[in-house]
Amino acid sequence: MPHAPSLVEVSRPASEAPGPSGRALVSLLFDWQRNGLAALESLAQQYGDVVCVRLPGVRAYLLNGPDRIKHALIDHSDNYLKTPGSTHARMYFGDSMQLNNGERARRLRQWITPIFHHSRVAQDMNSFIMRAIDESLSQWQPGARPTLTNDLLEMALSVGVQTHFGTNPGEDTRHVASLFQQALLGLNQVFLPAWLPTPTNNRYSQAIRKLDEAVLDRIRQRRATGPTGTDLLSSFVDPQGASQESVSDAEIRHELVSMMAAASQTIGIAINQTLRLVAQHPRVGEKLFDEVASLPGAGSAYTEQVVKESLRIAPPAGMLARVAAADDQVGPWRIPAGSKVFVSAWVMHRDSRYFADPLSFRPERWTPDFERKLPLCSYLPFGRGARSCVAGALSTLILKCMLASIIQRFRPEPSIPPASTDFKPFDRGDVPLALHARR
Ligand code: HEM
Repeated sequence: MPHAPSLVEVSRPASEAPGPSGRALVSLLFDWQRNGLAALESLAQQYGDVVCVRLPGVRAYLLNGPDRIKHALIDHSDNYLKTPGSTHARMYFGDSMQLNNGERARRLRQWITPIFHHSRVAQDMNSFIMRAIDESLSQWQPGARPTLTNDLLEMALSVGVQTHFGTNPGEDTRHVASLFQQALLGLNQVFLPAWLPTPTNNRYSQAIRKLDEAVLDRIRQRRATGPTGTDLLSSFVDPQGASQESVSDAEIRHELVSMMAAASQTIGIAINQTLRLVAQHPRVGEKLFDEVASLPGAGSAYTEQVVKESLRIAPPAGMLARVAAADDQVGPWRIPAGSKVFVSAWVMHRDSRYFADPLSFRPERWTPDFERKLPLCSYLPFGRGARSCVAGALSTLILKCMLASIIQRFRPEPSIPPASTDFKPFDRGDVPLALHARR
């Protein structure tokens, strides 16, 4: 069913949104290959807040600007559906909320959201988070750290495993983490149809089977003992907990596993980029150190500003994808049913209409007054609306704890002069850093 357009929109019949064609389309495709999301920035600058890219067999729309984004993610979110994952992805994510739409997604969200809103996320998860970070950092030596990106991804995975499953630091956590790593590695390698018995498909199936066994085993054990702590698994099996729903072991498995996938990569990329930005801006690093030097845990106001600014300039989830269920009209532009619709936090966060001097890393811009004046959908590192990240607060807490803990111990510095302070979207932040011991 078409959505009712606003009064202003009614006055004009819907027309085709502008976009590249011919040579401009070819050069966009090359630019996309080379620069990823950065290619979309110039697209929005050139054609405006609704751009149509006509590809063989499909129309893709880029929506930009807070109003257009709000239209798709909030006001008409029922028309802009999450795309179903591939068969391979479904083996990993299962029938989880992340891959669902409509009534099932709504029911799952009702069950899951309170678990993350519960006050214990902020208070009690802190101990899991700090324990996992301290354990990782205790093994770090000062000096040049060529493997920093991987070390940070591993730290994020370890925090993820401990907060989800309440595993003990050390061998227990490493075992579960390696099962997730193997499954993710398998998912990144498969490309032929899942029913073909190729060696890569078989390896992937086996990795998923091992992961499932371990996760289901932990779920059954936890049901038997009852909730034993404040990890997410305890919240999921707690019949008295926020959910109050009876759910199967398989449903808990789908959510825990898909959340781990959503959590560890994004957190790993975010802390990587944050550290790199701090290293490139020594004045920010010193101000941060002044704040966290004598403060255990997550730091305070400035640490939060640094995290917000890093998620602005380098959002780990830089592009959200939807498919239009029915014909719609966004402002004066027509969006036919079946179109792919994209919203990019990367592009939005670099829009000088909302962020002055957008390429500058300036944590100080995040004053309460600035935030109050920002239009709703102009800042969206965690998405917006009915399908936004369920764990925005938890993620910010984890990032603040990681950043504060690292800065307390080390002063990061680029070990080669950066060619530019900007970087490409999708890169993992592989900039060689040296970490100098503070004490
Ligand atoms: C820096 C870290 C993170 C970032 C930047 C991030 C970002 C996002 C974004 C942008 C979305 C919306 C996707 C869309 O609209 O298509 C999302 C969804 C989601 N995130 Fe996160 N996320 C982070 C960490 C986490 C963590 C730690 C968890 C769980 C422990 C988590 C669980 C989820 C789930 C379950 C959804 C799907 C919500 C739904 O389907 O309705 N995320 N995340």
